Amino acid sequence: MTTPTIELKPSSNPLSAAEREAILASPGFGRHFTDHMVTIKWTEGRGWHDAELVPYAPLSIDPANMTLHYAQTIFEGLKAYKQPDGTVATFRPQANAERFQASARRMAMPELPTELFIAACDALIQQDRAWVPDSGEASLYLRPFMFASEVGLGVRPANEFLFMVIASPAGAYFPGGVKPVSVWLSEEYVRAVKGGTGAAKTGGNYAASLVAQAQAAEHGCDQVVWLDAVEHRWIEEMGGMNLYFVYGDRIVTPELTGSLLPGITRDSLLTIARDLGYTAEEGRISTEDWKRDNENGTLTEVFACGTAAVITPVGSVKSERANWTQGDGQPGEVTMRLRKALLDLQTGRSADTHGWMHPL
Ligand code: PLP
Ligand code: COI
Repeated sequence: MTTPTIELKPSSNPLSAAEREAILASPGFGRHFTDHMVTIKWTEGRGWHDAELVPYAPLSIDPANMTLHYAQTIFEGLKAYKQPDGTVATFRPQANAERFQASARRMAMPELPTELFIAACDALIQQDRAWVPDSGEASLYLRPFMFASEVGLGVRPANEFLFMVIASPAGAYFPGGVKPVSVWLSEEYVRAVKGGTGAAKTGGNYAASLVAQAQAAEHGCDQVVWLDAVEHRWIEEMGGMNLYFVYGDRIVTPELTGSLLPGITRDSLLTIARDLGYTAEEGRISTEDWKRDNENGTLTEVFACGTAAVITPVGSVKSERANWTQGDGQPGEVTMRLRKALLDLQTGRSADTHGWMHPL
């Protein structure tokens, strides 16, 4: 089967420059979308076909669309950043393409070739270039996703899928800026078990997390920290972010057990931290370790990381049985140093020594 080329069918009626600029002045996260989107179909026996870049518009969905009932759907998240010379580049799109393929395998969906994933993102960014914010941490967030487009109620993998990419200008994910978040250790609800779908970026994982997120909010917390589903003891990750624990000049992130998402920011930070002279490791951290090591002062900082959230300090922790301030509750030095190193790389203010940036 051949890889289709993307046919450009641009909008004759994009948003005016003034309307766009008003949005870019305060984009928020995931609230506004650019003028275009990419759609590529997959049909059993035919493969990928009808790749198009078209005006952003609602889809018409049959009530018996299989995704609405059985949730065969996956997504990705990556960002495009304006570089100092005015060009635009994305961060590690190949890693997102590969994770998308891994998610597809887990959800019995077809794998989109890496070149087509990257070409689809590039085509949308090129077309909607004016939507890439100018400065600082702002970026254009790309949301590639795929869902079953077949109609029917039989429970089996669909034989038709739609892959799409939409884009949304992004300011800070947490409206307060770099402000430490408070977290709730979820002991009642679990996110995923080994053998389940926790390592895939699939909609159901997020749907299942919402009731725990609401519970966190009831306890005055911003975010949920998921624990392992068997012992309810080992730290896994947060709702849309991985976690790092800072022990002086050693940083540790929970190992990939099969039930947490292998974050690309998490992976990048293992390398960036080593470049900066820290020891960076994957390991196991329990809720007891967290509390004890914070109390005895060896655990100096904790932070969360992800594409949308970048790096966000954790300032306080709460559970049914305990409640503590992480360190002095303020953003830590290592956290802020790693945050700057990551953003400098993504925005082209430091050298891309690992070949992670994809210029358009
Ligand atoms: N964990 C979950 C559940 C996520 O949704 C995300 C966001 O993509 C992450 C971790 C962080 O992954 P990445 O750094 O690839 O954005
Ligand atoms: C991302 O960081 O890209 C995410 O997908 C997290 C969240 C918005 C679901």
